[in-house]
Amino acid sequence: MSVPIVRTVDELRTIAAEWRRSGASIAVVPTMGALHEGHLSLARAALQKADRIIVTLFVNPKQFNSAADLAAYPRTESQDAAKLALLGAHLLYVPDAVEIYPAGFATTVSVSGISQGLCGTFRPGHFDGVATVVAKLFLQTGADFAFFGEKDFQQLQLVRRMVQDLDIPITVVCCPTVREADGLALSSRNFRLSPAERAIAPNLALVLIETAERLARGSPVLPTLAEARAAILAAGYRDIEYLELRGETDLQPMTSLDRPARLLAAAWLGETRLIDNVRTSPVFSEVR
Ligand code: PAF
Repeated sequence: MSVPIVRTVDELRTIAAEWRRSGASIAVVPTMGALHEGHLSLARAALQKADRIIVTLFVNPKQFNSAADLAAYPRTESQDAAKLALLGAHLLYVPDAVEIYPAGFATTVSVSGISQGLCGTFRPGHFDGVATVVAKLFLQTGADFAFFGEKDFQQLQLVRRMVQDLDIPITVVCCPTVREADGLALSSRNFRLSPAERAIAPNLALVLIETAERLARGSPVLPTLAEARAAILAAGYRDIEYLELRGETDLQPMTSLDRPARLLAAAWLGETRLIDNVRTSPVFSEVR
């Protein structure tokens, strides 16, 4: 079995319209390819929810901050297609760049507030690129459901805000972060880690999980976050861009844990930037 691949909006819309006529519901799983178990878990969840699933694969130049990072992004279309075929995905949409950004393209979708701070501070323009491409993918596929991972938590909340603000008729479904056995969150950037860095990498998640538990038990926020930063650096990370406690839905900074929150971090391990986040709450001490 293989998964059908389409590369133009016209082909995509013809197939989606046929599905709709037969009464099928449609889910979309937006990706940039290099599919790992995290992406596959989204596709599996989508298959449970909808009659037909479309996985999109587009390495979106507008969300990269450097040409080198864009060039280094892995392109593994045929392996990705094979993985999706095994799962039983119904369609892989791999748009040519011109289908997303045709000549004269002049529109940017910008979600204020939620896109500021955290990754927004360190990756200027990144979230405008994400919002613009995701809006296009939603409109091109006309899907009923869209699946996103909690790993990119700021992105998830940004997409939710955009869907609400623009009345896009799609339900955003979030799926838990998939982790290696040692706690490292799956990411297409993990393949860049040297064996020595790979051994250090899980410490980001481990410190976040431990810190979330301490906060839930009542540790004061600011000193506890300072200790967490120190622990990540002591483990071998080179630099921490941010490690912050933010409101779970509005992502507003928090200095005391008085409502459900997320502890979010971005840190550099050698030349690789890793992000992660976990939930914490003053009432439920559950973290994940
Ligand atoms: O999370 C990603 O892989 C990308 O940001 C997305 C949502 C596919 C948009 O390009």
